[in-house]
Amino acid sequence: MSDNNKVNILMVDDRPENLMALEAVLVSENYHLIRAQSGEEALRFVLQYDIAVILMDVQMPGLNGFETAQIIKQRKSSRHIPILFITALSKANEHVNKGYSKGAIDYIFKPFNPNILKSKVEAFVQIYLKQKEIEIQRNLLKQQTIDLTTKSNNLEMIIHEKTKELVRSNKELQVSQERFQKVFQFSPNLMAIRSLATHHYIDVNRTWSEFTGYELDDIIHRSDNFLNIKSSDGKLDGTIPFDIQDSLFNERVSFETKSGEVREGLLSTEQAMINDEPCIISTITDITERTQMEKEISRLDRLNLVGEMAAGIAHEIRNPMTTVLGFLQLMKIQEEMRQPQEYIDLMIDELNRANGIITEFLTFAKDKAADKKIQSLNDVVMKLHPLLRAEALMGNNSIELKLEECPPLFLDEKEIRQLILNIGLNGLEAMTEGGVLTIQTYKEGQSVILAIKDQGPGIKKEDLENIGTPFFTTKEDGTGLGLAICYSIASRHSACIDIKTSSKGTAFIIRFEQKEAEVELEPSH
Ligand SMILES: Nc1ncnc2c1ncn2[C@@H]1O[C@H](COP(=O)(O)OP(=O)(O)OP(=O)(O)O)[C@@H](O)[C@H]1O
Ligand SMILES: [Mg+2]
Repeated sequence: MSDNNKVNILMVDDRPENLMALEAVLVSENYHLIRAQSGEEALRFVLQYDIAVILMDVQMPGLNGFETAQIIKQRKSSRHIPILFITALSKANEHVNKGYSKGAIDYIFKPFNPNILKSKVEAFVQIYLKQKEIEIQRNLLKQQTIDLTTKSNNLEMIIHEKTKELVRSNKELQVSQERFQKVFQFSPNLMAIRSLATHHYIDVNRTWSEFTGYELDDIIHRSDNFLNIKSSDGKLDGTIPFDIQDSLFNERVSFETKSGEVREGLLSTEQAMINDEPCIISTITDITERTQMEKEISRLDRLNLVGEMAAGIAHEIRNPMTTVLGFLQLMKIQEEMRQPQEYIDLMIDELNRANGIITEFLTFAKDKAADKKIQSLNDVVMKLHPLLRAEALMGNNSIELKLEECPPLFLDEKEIRQLILNIGLNGLEAMTEGGVLTIQTYKEGQSVILAIKDQGPGIKKEDLENIGTPFFTTKEDGTGLGLAICYSIASRHSACIDIKTSSKGTAFIIRFEQKEAEVELEPSH
């Protein structure tokens, strides 16, 4: 056993032979026996070593055993050390009591029995070792308690940090969800979220409902293609709903609203995880109005082109024709050049008719000076009424007028007459016997409406696209210029023409803006 692990036993006696005798009895590899020959020396060792037990002679010169013991017991650090007094003094009780009163644990009288001494010392050593062990355990426990407290503190801190982090990311999530909701709800485009797996609708925005006519509650569990979304070019016409296909970008599509109206749009799709579910977000930009406007513009462009052409050609033709006309009229008066009367009349009639057609062509000329005046639309209609009634009678049809009081408009009378006549004649031509052509005027907001309705078979869908295109006609003897002229006139009056057609008849609705008239009037005030 190394010296460090040995138990220190202090033997105090002024006589070396006594010390040797004690050592002979106690010698053991477990003990480190320390000899002190006086009380003073003993005190030094007590300070220096961790002593398990002290064997103390009572009678010594200088500090005797009791005095030494008293000092030892006074010190806090050494108070606990058991002291075994060894004395040859009488066994009288007073000595024994004195010894005990100094805190001694035991008392041995000389001559002592070595075995008893040995076992007593061993008993103290065992107590000492137990105490040491307890102390080590206590320290260990203390350390463990400290460790545990530190760990629990750390844990608490980590929990605190994590909670803070969680609260923060929760807030961020909430903010980003709110942001998405705003973008989704207030988007001017039709937006829908569908499950990628089941194709069920999960959410749609307000614009989607406004345009399609369906509310979210009506369609939340539907997974079919009830909007009948189709690619305009038929390219991606598959069995799975079109707005479920991933990563489309501005595909031109058509879709059907609840009321059966077919609209056009640009469809884009994107996959996203929403509430842990793979979804498709689809966005449709409705371009129905834009497309109609584009058609309108291209119609006007075509009109302008024809107008320019017409103006050019007409001027070229009219001049020589005027000459021929003049020459023929001259021939008619001069007796000697007289030709058969009816031929000349025929020539004049023909030329007049040709002149009429050219005049009609000239109506296209875009910079044609309009002869606009403030006047009542109803008056223009009334003036035309006899002519239209005569036309109607010839086909066994009739005319019905429903003219409401309207504010005056800024109109070119001749042009408006032509517009009513062209549309009216088309209506009469479209009807078989017994039909009624209704001409209506009324005020609607800031607009004045002129509506001309017939009871004919309607305009075919494929023909509707071409209405207003110069030279488009389905009639054998038609010029196909009637409606083209009407569009041109309407555009000069800043009016627009709407067509409503079905198998029960067709209505041409011409909308004049009343404020046009007011603005034009201002300079003369
Ligand atoms: N009320 C209507 N009902 C049915 N179809 C119509 C009606 N109005 C116009 N259409 C169709 O539009 C075409 C073009 O009309 P538009 O007036 O421009 O020329 P047109 O009537 O054929 O010839 P024109 O006016 O020189 O006699 C017609 O041929 C006809 O097919
Ligand atoms: Mg016509």
